Amino acid sequence: MDENILVTGGCGFIGSHTVIELLNAGYGVIVIDNLSNSSEKALERIEHITGKSVKFYKKDLLDEKAVDDIFAKEDISSVIHFAGLKAVGESCKIPLVYFNNNITGTLNLLKIMEKYNVKSLVFSSSATVYGKPESVPIREDFPLSVSNPYGRTKLIIEDMLRDIYSSDNSWDIALLRYFNPIGAHKSGEIGESPNGIPNNLLPYVAKVAAGELEAVNVFGNDYDTPDGTGVRDYIHVVDLAEGHIKALEKLSSHPGLVTYNLGTGKGYSVLEIIKNFEKACGKKIPYNITERRPGDIDMCYADPKKAKEELGWEAKRDIDQMCEDAWRWQSKNPKGLINNF
Ligand code: NAD
Ligand code: UFG
Repeated sequence: MDENILVTGGCGFIGSHTVIELLNAGYGVIVIDNLSNSSEKALERIEHITGKSVKFYKKDLLDEKAVDDIFAKEDISSVIHFAGLKAVGESCKIPLVYFNNNITGTLNLLKIMEKYNVKSLVFSSSATVYGKPESVPIREDFPLSVSNPYGRTKLIIEDMLRDIYSSDNSWDIALLRYFNPIGAHKSGEIGESPNGIPNNLLPYVAKVAAGELEAVNVFGNDYDTPDGTGVRDYIHVVDLAEGHIKALEKLSSHPGLVTYNLGTGKGYSVLEIIKNFEKACGKKIPYNITERRPGDIDMCYADPKKAKEELGWEAKRDIDQMCEDAWRWQSKNPKGLINNF
């Protein structure tokens, strides 16, 4: 295949796993990343795993000229756009930074894509755009709403993309709404490297298992769920990465603007996750029940039918594999790749 895909944020958690799948599928890959939440080491690991090379630009999407130069130089057929800031709590403290990075960064990218007539885009959206859903499983046609600045950036970008498509239907755009990506590549060479103390459940549990943190704080056990703790749709990051390849294939048939949930359709509670992780690492994981975290919802899981029917994609890896792979990554790389914790 002689198609080159520009991957923004390709050194990050989901981006790095997707780059592997792209290379394995025969695409050429060009990565742009400012390394604000990742390390260039991810690319060395990817090259080691795949035996293929990746072209890398350490550049910021806020630097319009730098992005323009990449499009002038490279022959790009599609863009997969992961680059963005993603911590919900942080976004409530520094919303302007989030709006600028995520929205302005995306605007710069879109203007330059239009200038160079590259009108094929896969965008990383999130289940956060469903707000507090009235029921589960969540379908793509459910109402959209958000409750924090991070979520707002996702919804605003989705709205921008819908408007752009309405004005010019020569664009092909896939909005992929991820549920809760966890796990790692089976080699244990790449995985999630959160900055500082993890906000998300899985990396936190992994650090407790490794003895780096004392106990998991379970944020509330009085939710309207079978065991009272929050239920989420955890999806293996490699399944998610494969979904991007299917989305690119779909875009090549010029479908216009399409939207898909990428989830498994199954929900697991916080306590179930802790149990499964204990099985994977062979250790007891201490936990305390604490207050609810503001903004959290009871249950969130996908109806993944549309992606199955229209993309021919479904998640294949189960919760045991997610926990085993996350543990392998954690054990082999106790300090992650950013080396800051
Ligand atoms: P990540 O932080 O690991 O990766 C994002 C990458 O983008 C990082 O490598 C970072 O350095 C880079 N980046 C950020 N701003 C940039 C900029 N202005 N210019 C260039 N590079 C920049 O995050 P991830 O978990 O891989 O998430 C990827 C995308 O998926 C994000 O857009 C995120 O919002 C979205 N998403 C993630 C989750 C999740 O739980 N991980 C869930 C739903 C959606
Ligand atoms: N939780 C704990 N203790 C922790 C961390 C989390 O009990 O230390 C609980 C939460 O209350 C929730 C569940 O574990 O019930 C999952 O929490 P995460 O923080 O791992 O994930 P969220 O579902 O809150 O949010 C994640 C991403 C969002 C994204 C959303 C949907 O952080 O950016 O998935 O894709 F929008």
